[in-house]
Amino acid sequence: MREGAVGVGEVEWARARELDASDPLAAARDQFGETPGDSVYLDGNSLGMLPRRSVARLRQVVEEEWGRGLVGSWDRWIDLPFQVGDRLGQALLGADAGEVVMADSTSVNLYKLAAAAVGARPGRTVVVTDRRNFPTDRYLLEGLVRGRPLELRLVEFDEVEGPTAERVRAAVDGDTALLSLSHVDYRSGAIADMAGISAVAHAAGALTLWDLSHSVGAVPIQLDRSGADLAAGCTYKYVNAGPGAPAFLYVRRSLQAEISQPIWGWFGKRQMFAMDEGYRPRDGVGSFLSGTPAVLGLALVEEGVLLLEELGIERIRAKSIALTSYLVELCDRHLAGLGFELASPRAADRRGSQVCLRHARAQAICRELGERWGVVADFRAPDRLRLGCAAPTTSFADLALAVERIAQVSDLGEGPSSPSPAGGAAGATERG
Ligand SMILES: Cc1ncc(COP(=O)(O)O)c(C=O)c1O
Repeated sequence: MREGAVGVGEVEWARARELDASDPLAAARDQFGETPGDSVYLDGNSLGMLPRRSVARLRQVVEEEWGRGLVGSWDRWIDLPFQVGDRLGQALLGADAGEVVMADSTSVNLYKLAAAAVGARPGRTVVVTDRRNFPTDRYLLEGLVRGRPLELRLVEFDEVEGPTAERVRAAVDGDTALLSLSHVDYRSGAIADMAGISAVAHAAGALTLWDLSHSVGAVPIQLDRSGADLAAGCTYKYVNAGPGAPAFLYVRRSLQAEISQPIWGWFGKRQMFAMDEGYRPRDGVGSFLSGTPAVLGLALVEEGVLLLEELGIERIRAKSIALTSYLVELCDRHLAGLGFELASPRAADRRGSQVCLRHARAQAICRELGERWGVVADFRAPDRLRLGCAAPTTSFADLALAVERIAQVSDLGEGPSSPSPAGGAAGATERG
């Protein structure tokens, strides 16, 4: 039994056990590796856990396809960016075949897509984004407008509730070329109304670019039905494809012929092996490729998507809502009196798969939790403790234990803490 001596109480533990017993996804945890020292891992929204099946797949790609097949394996690898993109797009993004391709990192893809969007709106001079958008999204837009006759307009949205169509309406106008937002806020976890906001941007004649890093694999997405023009996101969080796994990008089909990205490499070229002079891009979303795809990572993305397909994104979302709702209840009952304040939307349907808490000592608490109490969460400046609830790998008992330990650590104040009851864990992270 993992529960601590002082803590949330027997009634709470009984409830956690009851919720776990009736969880249709409880067995999914067995499809993933262990956590160090039996720690509670609440950081799947930063780096997803390792699916057991991925180990066998990686071994097969390395030993068979690379080791024995050598360069001849490019015959099957060359189409992987499209095959895996289609699979991920159809299973998790509500996209059609030919609208998603795997390439590069999220940062690079966002840059390519943003540059393509402003190129497709000549004469328009404004790019709009959220002042609190994930740093890489803001930085790459700063870099894009620099040296061009463009201006970056940073909009102030509510830091818990995130972007709304009303606020966007006031921020876009006839000069706006592009609106770039995150679907799920990396800190608060707020879900933006993609359809409503895209409609407002379109009414002003602007294109929309969505960062799906914190929603893909956790929140069902319907790109084709929500009016999104462009999107990108990573696969190392809820898709569980591993550190540095390739990202994806989406270009709405009806936009593909009128849009062009700036990094012209041979993989984006029509008849790439002609090796001839002059660049003519491929048709379709493949024109957004630049260089050699990361084959090992693509194999892991495919395994991650297959696993999520088997579990079912609707069931994942249902469990995620149950987990975050239970966690909010636990926080209200056991942490509110200890200086914690909820910094995620209260309405479950407005929340992604994480719960964010504000606390004056959030950074120290997060470090203590990770280093000595066997709870891996993450800290977000200036004062947020972020608790990720990846549905396939998180149990209700994990949440009860985490809250119990958060209460114990914060109750200890600044003084020395007890040795780890869980025997220590990997340190808490400060990644996205
Ligand atoms: C919303 C968001 N966008 C982008 C990134 C990072 O992009 P990249 O994979 O290019 O580092 C992260 C990383 O956590 C993120 O949370």
